[in-house]
Amino acid sequence: MRVVLLGAPGAGKGTQAQVLVERLGFIHIATGEILRAAVREQSPLGIQVQAMMASGQLVPDRLMIALVEERLQQAGDRPCLLDGFPRTLAQAEALTQAGIKLDQVVHLAVPEAVLIRRLSGRRVHRPSGRLYHIDYQPPRVADRDDITGEPLNTRPDDDEATIRQRLMIYQAQTVPLIAYYQQQALQGRTRYVALEANQPAVAVSAQLLALFPQQTA
Ligand code: AP5
Repeated sequence: MRVVLLGAPGAGKGTQAQVLVERLGFIHIATGEILRAAVREQSPLGIQVQAMMASGQLVPDRLMIALVEERLQQAGDRPCLLDGFPRTLAQAEALTQAGIKLDQVVHLAVPEAVLIRRLSGRRVHRPSGRLYHIDYQPPRVADRDDITGEPLNTRPDDDEATIRQRLMIYQAQTVPLIAYYQQQALQGRTRYVALEANQPAVAVSAQLLALFPQQTA
């Protein structure tokens, strides 16, 4: 089982991925998280991508394709959830050409004004990746992780100018994937669904979990 979560920055991919991982045991392949870990470690990959990520640019396709193909190979037959990949047509076509079948593509649809509010208020517990929002999903104690009590952080690419840049890139580079996967679905190569994701996170999770009744049972 291979599932793709497609959606703009702030659509809730990471939030919903945590639910699918906890409830259904998916292996989470989150390209943004993998890259941020590389930056924190200052590995050769991290050093190479740090400035691109901080300014909201995409990392070159060839790096991303190699990275994801390696992770998928390591996962073998276990169910995988791709979060943040593919996000260009070249990345999508690389998966198709490598013969990697996607069982389900889920588009989380959210209006742009909502995305900006979500990203501006996001807080992250870096060691675990746990996500919060100052208004929509506040921690029990302000700016502290619920489990460890450690401080929460903002992401360097969540300032308003960089958010707008990321949203522009999403429109130009990632939105074409919606038509691509709709077409693939018409040809019977995958299933595609768009979920109304401008709802409380639990309501989105309920729609998402309903897509996988066998795994949920
Ligand atoms: P990445 O980490 O993938 O970031 P992104 O796609 O911009 O998505 P986000 O993580 O910002 O948002 P999300 O949809 O996960 O929302 P979240 O659940 O956190 O990529 C970062 C960078 O890495 C890229 O800019 C690029 O440089 C590089 N990169 C990564 N993959 C790449 C690729 N394939 N190719 C090239 N470059 C790549 O939610 C956001 C906030 O909203 C949170 O505070 C959350 O609590 C809140 N929230 C979530 N759901 C709801 C809800 N239903 N109601 C209210 N609030 C909600």
